[in-house]
Amino acid sequence: MLGIIPVRENMFWIGMNDHETDLFESIWPLPRGVSYNSFLVRGEKIAVIDAVKSNFIAAYTDKIRALLPPGGSVDYLIVNHMEPDHSGALKAMRGIFPDMKIVGNKKTAEFIRDFYGIADNVISVDDGSSLDLGGFKLKFFLTPMVHWPETMVTYEETQKVLFSCDAFGGFGALDNRIFDDESDLVYFENEILRYYSNIVGRYSNMVQRAIDKLKDLEIAVIAPSHGPIWRKNPAHIIALYDRWSRHETEEGVVLVYASMYGNTCRMMEAISQSLAEEKMEKVRVHDISRSHVSFVLVDIWRFRGMILGSPTYNTKLFPPMQSLVHILENEEVRNRFIGVFGSYSWSKGAVNALHEFACCGRLTLVEPVVEAKCAPTAADLEQCRLLGKNMAQMVRR
Ligand code: FEO
Repeated sequence: MLGIIPVRENMFWIGMNDHETDLFESIWPLPRGVSYNSFLVRGEKIAVIDAVKSNFIAAYTDKIRALLPPGGSVDYLIVNHMEPDHSGALKAMRGIFPDMKIVGNKKTAEFIRDFYGIADNVISVDDGSSLDLGGFKLKFFLTPMVHWPETMVTYEETQKVLFSCDAFGGFGALDNRIFDDESDLVYFENEILRYYSNIVGRYSNMVQRAIDKLKDLEIAVIAPSHGPIWRKNPAHIIALYDRWSRHETEEGVVLVYASMYGNTCRMMEAISQSLAEEKMEKVRVHDISRSHVSFVLVDIWRFRGMILGSPTYNTKLFPPMQSLVHILENEEVRNRFIGVFGSYSWSKGAVNALHEFACCGRLTLVEPVVEAKCAPTAADLEQCRLLGKNMAQMVRR
């Protein structure tokens, strides 16, 4: 049947590709869609691991039915994570398969009750406990806050498949090429970093704990609930996640600015010119009024240097820059060099706010801090050039 893809014998991808949702979580753009990966494991008992968003129930349950024996049912729905991009189909599935047991942990059970009003036939598992399907054996590991408190992963012991839910997942629909060895990994790795920096990065320390907890498992396949299934090189995606969650960065600078009438833009251009003169190869410039923060975060997460510039707006940061700074504070972005610049006309504010953020203790400020009154003078622009030069030197160390 269309849209059913074997992962291993009697283990199938039954996910859905979403090309209709414009904004994931109503925030993050989906220019090339997203997949909700779901899996059916057909042992003597039948388990579905992670479900899909509620919009896809009809097509999704058709796939499940196509894999059931005549008169058969789903015995278990394993809920690794309760965010409704995965649990949205849960209530409808219970209606279609009334005897289906729902498997999660204590926190999952609380969310199932509170989201869907379901409390019966819910099995609560502990960290390290197992479920024998007859021919397949599922083992559960709690990985709280990767991405919600109830998040867990499921490891199938006979085939060594790790169903990791949000962890190792990314944006981008799969469209029938579900495996890493048949995917455009340049595209997907960027989309996985976008998912990480937009959604999971806030919990990097918990990602580190999860990686440590799972480090002794022999893993042949990583099957996340978004993005490609890693059967050729699962170690690669683990290594990337390890890097990102350690806040390890690469040489390069992201320059994010806002400008209402071009004056702060001229300061940005002086910094940019200086970075070019310093032969800084990887430089990304974003006008925060026009680049969606989702894509800005990817570059901030990737590069060692970040320079933020803003005009003053009603004595504060320009609102789109304020929003970016708020997100960076919330994500506790760290281990990066930061430079700040900006302008004001009748009242200061923006540069003070950026400077305060830069001195939060998680970042290293690169001097000089540059502030222009109204339009930048030649001396201001020279200071901007010095900031670019100093930043280039710092990120190269
Ligand atoms: Fe893919 Fe946190 O949900």
